[in-house]
Amino acid sequence: MEVYLESRVQNQPRNYTDALMDKIEATTDATSVFHSSQNTWVPFFIDVLLAAIETTSSTQEWSILFLSQFPEVQKRLQAEISEVIGNVKCPVGSDRDRMPYFQAVLEEVFRLAPPLPFGFHKCTEDTKLMGVDIKKNSLIVFNFFGNHIDPDKWEDPDIFKPERFLDGDQNFVKPELFTFGYGRRSCIGEHVARSQLFIFLTSILQSFNIYPEKKLDNLRGNLTIGYRCVECKVIFEPRDKVKSD
Ligand code: HEM
Repeated sequence: MEVYLESRVQNQPRNYTDALMDKIEATTDATSVFHSSQNTWVPFFIDVLLAAIETTSSTQEWSILFLSQFPEVQKRLQAEISEVIGNVKCPVGSDRDRMPYFQAVLEEVFRLAPPLPFGFHKCTEDTKLMGVDIKKNSLIVFNFFGNHIDPDKWEDPDIFKPERFLDGDQNFVKPELFTFGYGRRSCIGEHVARSQLFIFLTSILQSFNIYPEKKLDNLRGNLTIGYRCVECKVIFEPRDKVKSD
């Protein structure tokens, strides 16, 4: 922390933390959420640690688990990566648009393993929704996960099948999922998360094959406020090694 602070130059932010420190130092209005008396760092840590890091790392873990358990999906994805990006060049965000299978795989991970399975909102006034009276201050819980595995909506809802999001010409068809919430308060970090996950997964698959430590019968996770996989033990084998063997 000391090293970090020594290298900081006021009003020349290098990142979000510097920008927030500049804002707190510049705020004189004691009622502002940015005033130094207002515990501004608490919501900052909730946003960064829970909203951004926990969700993205959960998806990374689930993706690795699914890829290890479904080698045919992994192989097809590696073939798409080889064709579109190659195995030497670093992936860049614009490659994603030319990778329908990658997009289908990620959506299928999001469908079966939404990092935030429920959404919570408070009703700000008495209202009526689809004929139901809802009182002001009621807590409304959205069951995102339940929707993702609703048998009335999805064929074989428990099966991991990225192909469900490809049309007959193998184009990606974006599904209606609630992984990032819905409406005006949906996730503001969706774009960052999708880009980060793309770079993370394609870079790993360029260099490694992923094998499961053991085949799992049940790919359900721990359902709490978040949704984490119970066990994610995998083996990474460098692809260079495979080629040179
Ligand atoms: C796979 C990764 C992510 C998932 C699945 C995810 C999911 C969600 C969900 C479900 C919500 C609640 C939406 C609602 O209440 O309707 C939300 C809100 C939010 N997310 Fe994300 N998120 C992810 C990554 C990120 C990242 C990377 C950031 C920041 C860079 C971020 C920042 C936020 C913030 C600040 C909110 C609150 C928005 C508001 O209340 O207006 N999220 N996210």
